Amino acid sequence: MPHPASAQLHYDVIIIGAGAAGLMCAATAGYQGKRVLLLDHAKQAGKKILISGGGRSNFTNMYTTPENYISQNPHFCKSALNRYTQWDFMALVDKHKIPWHEKTLGQLFCDNSAKDLVRMLLKECELAGAKVQLRTEIFNVTYTNDQYALETSQGDYTSSKLVIATGGLSMPRLGATPFGYRIAEQFGHTIEPVRAGLVPFTLHDQDKEQFAELAGLSLDVVAENTRISFPEAMLFTHRGLSGPAMLQISSYWFPGETFNVNLRPGTDVLTELQNTRKQRPKLGLHGLMQQWFPKRLAFTLCQQNAWANKNLADYSNAEFEQIARTIETWQVKPNGTEGYRTAEVTLGGVNVNEVSSKTMESKLQPELYFIGEVLDVTGWLGGYNFQWAWSSGWVAGKAV
Ligand code: FDA
Repeated sequence: MPHPASAQLHYDVIIIGAGAAGLMCAATAGYQGKRVLLLDHAKQAGKKILISGGGRSNFTNMYTTPENYISQNPHFCKSALNRYTQWDFMALVDKHKIPWHEKTLGQLFCDNSAKDLVRMLLKECELAGAKVQLRTEIFNVTYTNDQYALETSQGDYTSSKLVIATGGLSMPRLGATPFGYRIAEQFGHTIEPVRAGLVPFTLHDQDKEQFAELAGLSLDVVAENTRISFPEAMLFTHRGLSGPAMLQISSYWFPGETFNVNLRPGTDVLTELQNTRKQRPKLGLHGLMQQWFPKRLAFTLCQQNAWANKNLADYSNAEFEQIARTIETWQVKPNGTEGYRTAEVTLGGVNVNEVSSKTMESKLQPELYFIGEVLDVTGWLGGYNFQWAWSSGWVAGKAV
């Protein structure tokens, strides 16, 4: 017979990480009648939810599909996304009477505050009987006699099942650690190389100087490379380039690479130049550029490319072709990214080929599960990462 005191410290399921995925998993498992303990070293649950979307959290996307995710195995995310969908999460939000709105491109935000979501998830845990324990450092995890034993700053616990929901490396100041990767390795898993994603670019000193005047300026562009293209806004910053288009393409960018930005999407620039020349031959090129772009950008483009302020009539077709090419395929060669300090996500992570896509259980170690961002599944900007956390957390919660 186990000692009564130690029996109290045994749980059916222990989940490490009270972020988006861990909270969803804890409530789901609790509703299944499991004794659940959710542990986190932070003082507060769901810190990333709280700061996401400028405090209003872009909590899902109406148009979520598996194509919005990056992984070594693009099929892995399909089953979970299909079983717990964006509509399921919206129904939960509605059940708690949390007002929300669509901002753009199917991105759903809270009307009031992301705090509503964290309150909702904690309430769900409470209703489901799942215990949430914060300020708990985990020192050691072992597996013997079909159970997990955890040594923590709040005492020792055992469980039949262990779920790792400790997220990625982005924003260490919010409590991100490589804990999940270390536990995965301890139990024989491989880790797909990790790097910062959805992150602003930094520029080489020379480019930074040239664009310094443009800080704060935003315009609609298409950012593209050989892998993908994103029609969204780009923002010049004091450090380099940001805005949704840059964050999106950063997840498809590798150091040393160049990508293209179409500064005037949706038009054929050469045809436009030629037509304007016919209609207004005496218009100067600089004047036309100021009609097309904000004044500061027009000036920088003309200066950088040494475009003379000749009348349009005095430009040859070959010169127009060169100008059109520059505008439509403006070449950006970043010197790097701002890294995990400001990245929204971590690309790479626990190799998904070693995890069941139906249950999130390890194929290598019994009763061990991985959910959320710690896995090698990374969504685009736009609510997709939270949807992955909800979906993977839910399927694991059902399975444990
Ligand atoms: P998450 O990071 O949420 O949770 C992990 C938990 O584990 C944390 O509570 C942490 O304290 C805990 N933990 C870590 N190490 C531990 C250890 N050693 N011991 C104990 N506990 C430990 N996505 C989106 O879809 N829409 C959006 O609007 C945004 N916005 C956004 C803004 C910013 C600034 C960031 C940084 C990120 C976003 N994201 C986002 C991404 C989104 O926040 C992220 O993908 C999910 O929070 C991942 O959920 P997880 O539960 O996997 O990890």
